Amino acid sequence: MSNFLKNRKSTRDFKKKKLDNKTRTEVLEIFKDLEEEVNNEYFNFILFEEGDKIYKSLDGLAGYAGVMIESPYYIGIRLKEVTEKSIITASYYTEKLMTLLANQNLGTCWVNVKDVDKYIKANVLGEDNKNIGYLVALGYPKAKNPFVQEATSSRYGVSDIVYKDKIGNPVNIDELESRGLDDLFYYIRFAPSNYNLQPWRFILKDDKIILLIKYSDEGKTDLMDAGIIMYYFKALGEVIGLKNEWSLLNETNIEYGDSEYKPVGEFRL
Ligand SMILES: Cc1cc2nc3c(=O)[nH]c(=O)nc-3n(C[C@H](O)[C@H](O)[C@H](O)COP(=O)(O)O)c2cc1C
Repeated sequence: MSNFLKNRKSTRDFKKKKLDNKTRTEVLEIFKDLEEEVNNEYFNFILFEEGDKIYKSLDGLAGYAGVMIESPYYIGIRLKEVTEKSIITASYYTEKLMTLLANQNLGTCWVNVKDVDKYIKANVLGEDNKNIGYLVALGYPKAKNPFVQEATSSRYGVSDIVYKDKIGNPVNIDELESRGLDDLFYYIRFAPSNYNLQPWRFILKDDKIILLIKYSDEGKTDLMDAGIIMYYFKALGEVIGLKNEWSLLNETNIEYGDSEYKPVGEFRL
């Protein structure tokens, strides 16, 4: 998991190649298994197979500043009901899905379609899918040139995202080390986030970790980022013997400096 996280990267260059039948069936089975892990309660994954048509219709409208990612398939993440819990659960399982797809040598990239007009989404994705906020581009990644150094997305340091007792209070790296959490926080930073904002902040307090999500300069939080980081925390935590689950918090926001933070979850160590 730590190797996977360090080397994971969003795929933005896909081959046009279609999935072979066996892989296609396996992908659909993974969708079903993950939906069933939460009793089909919160979300559905939908495989869109007309990648070309979707790309052409959404180019200029979806993705960062209208830059649509071109891929032979897209996965739709459709929420059954829009609640904080369903957003966090859906993003948690989407990141788990992306990890399982990487094991099948498939590449993926999150694509933001929140701001695309619903009428257009209904036309391209179908009436039932007009409220979808995120797609995942899917396909076989193009081979990389081993002689070209690839651009990587920057990441904050551990001390920028982990605090002791309260936000702003630095955590001692020796304490993280003695509690066996230093590697976990080192690797978790490679998680993807919307606009690479890395809004996750962790507070180590007694025997628990509290997850906060920082509001952006525009005063927004994206709970998709919360579910994604909770998934990686849980998966890396399992490697070091942490057996608990996240529980969601419903507490008032915290202000520190010029910023505001939303307490999202708590994990007992
Ligand atoms: C919720 C979410 C939405 C994203 N939307 C887009 C997008 O619309 N277009 C895009 O190119 N990348 C998108 N990304 C990918 C992030 O920009 C990327 O994960 C981040 O910059 C880190 O880079 P890396 O994945 O290569 O490590 C999104 C990521 C997340 C988690």
